[in-house]
Amino acid sequence: MTPSPTPLSTALPKYTRIAGTGSLLPERQVSNAELAIELAGRGVETSDDWIVERTGIRTRHFVAPGTVASDLAVGAARSAIEAAGCQAQDIDLIIVATSTPDMVFPSTACIVQQKLGIVGCPAFDLQAVCSGFVYALTVADAMIRSGSASRALVIGAEVFSRILDFNDRGTCVLFGDGAGAVVLAASDTPGLLATDLHADGRHVGLLCVPGSVAGGQVLGDPFVRMDGQGVFKLAVGVLEQAARAVLAKAGRTEADIDWLIPHQANIRIMQSTARKLKLGMDKVIVTVADHGNTSAASIPLALDVAVRSGRVNRGDTLLLEGVGGGFTWGAVLLDY
Ligand code: ACO
Repeated sequence: MTPSPTPLSTALPKYTRIAGTGSLLPERQVSNAELAIELAGRGVETSDDWIVERTGIRTRHFVAPGTVASDLAVGAARSAIEAAGCQAQDIDLIIVATSTPDMVFPSTACIVQQKLGIVGCPAFDLQAVCSGFVYALTVADAMIRSGSASRALVIGAEVFSRILDFNDRGTCVLFGDGAGAVVLAASDTPGLLATDLHADGRHVGLLCVPGSVAGGQVLGDPFVRMDGQGVFKLAVGVLEQAARAVLAKAGRTEADIDWLIPHQANIRIMQSTARKLKLGMDKVIVTVADHGNTSAASIPLALDVAVRSGRVNRGDTLLLEGVGGGFTWGAVLLDY
């Protein structure tokens, strides 16, 4: 009689957890004062005082000519992989959240895969602007828990300086370049506790780059356009809703949050969200002063800074939340 084969385990992982974080900022740092001088040369007036008072931003990083989103993404990915104690070859899913891809196609994720020397695993970009990282984390979590992957590289990478109109002082002072990454792994212990994603396409025009490429030319307007006050009003409302939704789904309360790591758009939006959740600013990770708004990269960048500076520790409960063009928004509650 032939022995029957040992049955394969069909148990799916119950949880995913962040195994390691990484980030990369371009070398060139541009302070508000330096930017103000550069803009003055174009006849555009701004000041360090105005920018700090309205946004909390003091400086941002801009890439050198020739540097693309995948360059930043790969640097962040390598340090996340090292922190996770694994090898690039162990990664079986790559998601890059970006609004500033290297090319129209292929995806920046495929370019990252090639630069990391990985072959075969699924790789794709996710476009949800500044909410991109919470969207990507949610998708990776679902794919791991369904058995489609076991160790995912989730990256937010942006070169927003390429799509800024430096004649528009209402937008060009707000953004910066950078990348942040996490390795998300299957786990028997929590882990991501709850996620909550939304979009409302009625607000497409509130924050957009209303251009496209056709017939060898850029059609429309290839720069960031924004109704700042409209964004502000919408953002503070939806961020509170998403935060409350993930807390309710996980059966937790505001008091359980050790760290709020919000999208780093503007200090006033972060203060308002913290107030609504009855959290002191000492529980909010703030990097907007040093990075500006790096869109999909801002949350993983802030997370990595907080981990490496020793503020975020294993076992801490983190609330990540993002909001951006689309309009899109969402939150992820996790035990780190
Ligand atoms: N320097 C100096 N003056 C400026 C600048 C600048 N960089 N930008 C605008 N101004 C002027 C305007 O021209 C206007 O002048 P006026 O009164 O003579 O017409 C005055 O400042 C007030 O302009 P507002 O647009 O009303 O300024 P507001 O107080 O709303 O601040 C800001 C603008 C900071 C953009 C604010 O609306 C905001 O924080 N919005 C949130 C949007 C945001 O964070 N976007 C980031 C991207 S979206 C995301 O990531 C979610």
